[in-house]
Amino acid sequence: MTHRIDMTGIGKSFFATRALDDVDFSCVAGEVHALVGLNGAGKSTLMKVLGGAIERDQGRIEMDGRDVAITGPADARAIGVAMIHQEYSLIDELTVYDNIFLGRELHRKGTPFLNKAEMARRVRAELKRFGLSLDPGRLVRDLNSGEKQIVEIMRALMSEAWLIVMDEPTSALSEGDKERLFHFIRRMKSEGVAIIYISHHMPEIFGIAERVTVMRDGRIVLSERTTDTTEEAVISSMSGSELDDFVKPHKAAEGEILLSVRNVSKTATYHDVSFDLRQGEILMLTGLRGCGAPELAKTVFGLDDGYRGDIAYRDVRLKPGRGPAAAVRDGMGLVTENRDTNGILAPLSVRDNIALPFLEKSLSFGLIDNTRIERLVDRAIRDTSAKTSSPSQEIRFLSGGNKQKICFSRWLDRDLELLVLLEPTRGIDVHAKADIYRIIEELAERGVGLLILSYEIDEVVMLADRVITFYEGRSISEYVHPHFDKDRMLADIAGTGPEQAA
Ligand SMILES: Nc1ncnc2c1ncn2[C@@H]1O[C@H](COP(=O)(O)OP(=O)(O)OP(=O)(O)O)[C@@H](O)[C@H]1O
Ligand SMILES: [Mg+2]
Repeated sequence: MTHRIDMTGIGKSFFATRALDDVDFSCVAGEVHALVGLNGAGKSTLMKVLGGAIERDQGRIEMDGRDVAITGPADARAIGVAMIHQEYSLIDELTVYDNIFLGRELHRKGTPFLNKAEMARRVRAELKRFGLSLDPGRLVRDLNSGEKQIVEIMRALMSEAWLIVMDEPTSALSEGDKERLFHFIRRMKSEGVAIIYISHHMPEIFGIAERVTVMRDGRIVLSERTTDTTEEAVISSMSGSELDDFVKPHKAAEGEILLSVRNVSKTATYHDVSFDLRQGEILMLTGLRGCGAPELAKTVFGLDDGYRGDIAYRDVRLKPGRGPAAAVRDGMGLVTENRDTNGILAPLSVRDNIALPFLEKSLSFGLIDNTRIERLVDRAIRDTSAKTSSPSQEIRFLSGGNKQKICFSRWLDRDLELLVLLEPTRGIDVHAKADIYRIIEELAERGVGLLILSYEIDEVVMLADRVITFYEGRSISEYVHPHFDKDRMLADIAGTGPEQAA
């Protein structure tokens, strides 16, 4: 029989926040159901209720028309519902098949010995059935993020899951891995698996999903077949307003040279890279994941001392290993890509997370200038339209995208000269993206130099004054606005550009 899940009248409050308000949501075997909404709309919360990770206050969950009690993750697993989280739950030191059979190991008949050959064989057969090639005997440690995600999904499928929830699955994947994931999703669909797919990327949603449901402030505001609606309708239902596009006012960068990078190399990471960055310029680095560009950007900020070559900042040669504190004192800022682990101090409030890198400067006569901090925090929250119930809320309770906005906002009111941004719009909803672009543009207008790493070529072309493409640790070509050639950039980063024919 074809399975289905029906959630009805689901309610959930966290203190004063009504995260879910009378939500009806269903999913049927063989379909991909996209769940979308602005940051903080309630998507992850709804899926955590389904997965048993949090308890609902109201509502019913039925499977195939019968009530099911989901009070913990084990209950969800028992009825074939699996969650693929962004934080991998795999064990690095074990093989692919060990991970897939974890807790359900196969033994040689009548012995306590593991039947490794049989586990590997089954995994290989199952991978083949889905048109995937991956050696089941490899250690998970040696896999890239796309392969790890496939192992997670395989583990779910092989433990009889028929419904798989993916919360922003492509946010850490390269273009090639995304293609592979979509292919895998189509195969699963044809095998009768149901997928709930949370994403902020409209083209992905319209490319892969049969149905799309939009949440806004804890409620469902639209639920349609993707063939019966449009990207515009979905986007405007998210906020109740049209998307006002960001259009970049381009200008030639004529500021003074702020940063000068000469022949820098780091073993097995990047090699012999040189460039300058001017005041007020938006210089974007792009490539595929693993291209070395983010590591280079972190080196500029002082997070690295294992490099060779010269980096000069305002004509002063930087000492390798000077560290981030010195970088901040010099007027540099950094927003990393890994905001959940490096970017935030989870137990602290939103206010403290914003004010932290600023505390030194807000001391007047040794006292903390609280008025100044309040002003800074209010402005930061307003400028990025971050959604939080109050500045004193602990940051760990914010939704994924809102954590990100806070990480970004903390740099805005400082005396910045150079801001390094890694994937500034990852996990950010469509409306907030335009806000972030506007803030970046304003900073450039003020004379701040921006060094930005992005893997999204459309974002690069739209936002940059100058672009440097990377492939396997080397810088390939430089493009200056308006001479952007997207096809050539794509060829560069894939290693097939004209300069790369060796
Ligand atoms: N454990 C928690 N404690 C307090 N508030 C929470 C908790 N979890 C979620 N919230 C709040 O519930 C609301 C919905 O959050 P949720 O994480 O479901 O949003 P989301 O739609 O997944 O957003 P994003 O796209 O940014 O990931 C937010 O206002 C969030 O701050
Ligand atoms: Mg979320």
